[in-house]
Amino acid sequence: MSFHYHNLRSGTAAASVDDQFAQAVREGLLREPKRLPSWLIFDDQGSEIFTEITQLAGYHPAQCEFEIFQTHKQAVTDIFAKTPFRVIELGAGDGRKTHILLEHFIQNQLHFEYVPIDISEGATQNLVAFLESRFSQSTMSVTGLATDYFDGLSTVKEHANLRNMVLFLGSTIGNMELPAAEQFVRNVRESLNEGDYVMIGFDLMKHPKTLYSAYNDSTGVFERFNLHLLDVLNQKLGANFVKDYYVQQGQYNPRAHAVESFIYSTREQVVSIDALGEKFHFGAWEPMQTEHSYKYTLSEITLLAENSGYRIVKHLFDGNNYFVDSIWEVKK
Ligand SMILES: C[S@@+](CC[C@H](N)C(=O)[O-])C[C@H]1O[C@@H](n2cnc3c(N)ncnc32)[C@H](O)[C@@H]1O
Repeated sequence: MSFHYHNLRSGTAAASVDDQFAQAVREGLLREPKRLPSWLIFDDQGSEIFTEITQLAGYHPAQCEFEIFQTHKQAVTDIFAKTPFRVIELGAGDGRKTHILLEHFIQNQLHFEYVPIDISEGATQNLVAFLESRFSQSTMSVTGLATDYFDGLSTVKEHANLRNMVLFLGSTIGNMELPAAEQFVRNVRESLNEGDYVMIGFDLMKHPKTLYSAYNDSTGVFERFNLHLLDVLNQKLGANFVKDYYVQQGQYNPRAHAVESFIYSTREQVVSIDALGEKFHFGAWEPMQTEHSYKYTLSEITLLAENSGYRIVKHLFDGNNYFVDSIWEVKK
């Protein structure tokens, strides 16, 4: 079977992503309080640190999804594998959890294509190389696309003739606020055909203390992850953030229904960002939000699916009901 990696982040596509990035930073730093979207952190090194997060025993979103796939891999197979199919994963990262499903499909001799899409070039390249080293003699073909979600989906659509099953795992949807999440799942639906499936990972609302400990590990990986954003801004936009002058903490915000991570400037300082041609003032202990992870209830998930043109097929839970992978069918 074939294993390919394509970097679609070149020319105008790359320029437009770079413009979006700069624009998001500028807007976020001008907000009061300052607030940057989580997706900015994911360059290659950001993806690597995120992999470390998924290995933390206390980070339940990842541990629950590993458990869900181990427990329900046959149920997933029964739903998806009725007709020839293609698995498209949005924001695949290291794809570790997905391996459980892919391996199960392979063991069942199912012929299918796996298309991981991720903005991180390093993560996508490593994932394709890993899958080739492990599954080269199998029933699976792999095409990794380093690009934005929707550029990737439109590329895949050009080669449509299989039933698509789109995965959006790891509670990445929680990084969006509700209106943006609804717009996102609507856009995904527009890119798909009637009868295609999506499977989305949602972290469910639970005891705030459990949420607090999931996002505040004792080994400092979350702090490293969030502070890495400053390295990304220095590298991509010529900023002069000094990481040592910031600290990080996560907390559950009951009004936002989300765990929010903040980095705090430990002193008064001014940072210049060459690519924006601007300077930004930080007061002593001024917070800047760097992560937003919305926690869903099941009724919100139902509304999200139904308002966006999907039929809910199945909810797959972990043993604690902390997390759900929700499978929806596209209705047109
Ligand atoms: C929270 S991580 C989840 C990774 C993996 N799905 C998991 O469950 O462990 C989000 C992933 O989405 C990718 N990502 C973020 N924004 C993206 C975009 N606009 N297009 C494609 N990938 C994106 C990041 O690079 C990162 O790998």
